[in-house]
Amino acid sequence: CLTPDLLHLHDVDNTIVVVADVFRATSCMVTAFAYGVGSIIPVATVEECRNLQERGYLAAAERNARTVEGFDLDNSPFSYMDERLDGADIAMTTTNGTLAITKSRSAVKVLVGSFLNLDAIANYLRGQSYDVLVLCAGWKGRVNLEDTLFAGALADRLKDEYSMMEDSVLMAHRLYCDGKENLISYLAAASHIRRLQRLGIQKDIAYCLQHDLYDVVPVLRGNALVKMEL
Ligand code: MLT
Repeated sequence: CLTPDLLHLHDVDNTIVVVADVFRATSCMVTAFAYGVGSIIPVATVEECRNLQERGYLAAAERNARTVEGFDLDNSPFSYMDERLDGADIAMTTTNGTLAITKSRSAVKVLVGSFLNLDAIANYLRGQSYDVLVLCAGWKGRVNLEDTLFAGALADRLKDEYSMMEDSVLMAHRLYCDGKENLISYLAAASHIRRLQRLGIQKDIAYCLQHDLYDVVPVLRGNALVKMEL
């Protein structure tokens, strides 16, 4: 599903949903769990995030790639490489990523995917009996290239176990095969890359495009993401 706005066309209730927001929400979450964060509550609105902050959670709020004033953490994966966050419970809202997760709640399982944990996600999905839906967070209802490439990368890893049932998967897979040798240059003109560059956030781009850095699968349990025991 290349944008959450098309999610109503899919049978979410009977699938495992893998939500991807490569730049940068799901890459942040995967990094946070790799560095020992205890849980992340993804919420759709800044108000919900502020309420949780008032109840004692550390809170991360991003809109349009900028940190919302008054919150503790931004949306850079590097901010989560911090031993002071070990075991922390964090509330998080982002423009697209956390919204996509909250829209997937009725799925059999909701997993958080990024290039950083691509292999961990693929390994978990091998041998599962449910259909898998990759939900690309996109940008405000629009399709984006980086999340589509993640969908294609996951399809590539799973092509011997799952059939690619939708043309959107075939498209994503072809794009990934076309661009995989150099994703940074393949994505050079992508809208969110240009947005991050305008804000001087270049180093997050190269970081988020690294494959298989962490053997971590964040999973939604109730209203919180936790690290799955593998
Ligand atoms: C989002 O959820 O839209 C993103 O993570 C935006 C960002 O790069 O901060």
